[in-house]
Amino acid sequence: MNEALSLAPQASAIRPYALALSGEARAALKAQHPRCLWLTGLSGAGKSTLANALELHLHQFGRHTFLLDGDNVRNGLCRDLGMGDGCRRENIRRMAEVARLMVDAGLIVIVAAISPFRAEREAARQLFAAGDFLEVHVSTTLQVCARRDPKGLYRAAREGRIKDFTGIDSPYEAPLAAECRIDTDEVDLAQACHRLAALLLKK
Ligand code: ADX
Repeated sequence: MNEALSLAPQASAIRPYALALSGEARAALKAQHPRCLWLTGLSGAGKSTLANALELHLHQFGRHTFLLDGDNVRNGLCRDLGMGDGCRRENIRRMAEVARLMVDAGLIVIVAAISPFRAEREAARQLFAAGDFLEVHVSTTLQVCARRDPKGLYRAAREGRIKDFTGIDSPYEAPLAAECRIDTDEVDLAQACHRLAALLLKK
């Protein structure tokens, strides 16, 4: 990871400031229940495709949303992070914190990231009120993902041109108790989208 992290001030020197306006008040203005839907799964599993379809679907129903996609966040906020275990942990921590801020702002947030480690996904869950973090395992198998290989990365990993590739030489810890599981090789996009929208909009 980077040097800046070791420059963090002592936690005891930072005190949270209590904001005058509550998350509930912001959400009430939008007439929606803000939540975080967290899509985890292998590269090529269909997380981004599903997340984009879901966001469009929610938008059509007048919901205020945002989509945090791993590839996009890694182009900005997390551009200092690589693909080693420590960097992935930090990547997930940052995405979770941003998602939490956005939920506090009143938005329905969809996160699409490999997020390979259970502990970091669990830590992300702990940032939210009970029921406001919904973990979705996009469980498309490694064989299918490697066959799809939309970015040619599985091939590059097999040929040793990139390292620490999830499922090849970097681990993926599947969720043990996700709120939902979707194998995009078995369920079509519209069906998957409806299932997730129902989960998100549940009272
Ligand atoms: S995570 O593991 O830290 O959650 P994240 O979802 O943000 O990963 O980024 C993964 C994206 O980076 C993949 O969609 C893929 O396009 C790209 N990528 C580049 N190198 C790797 C790698 N070694 N392992 C997995 N994905 C990689």
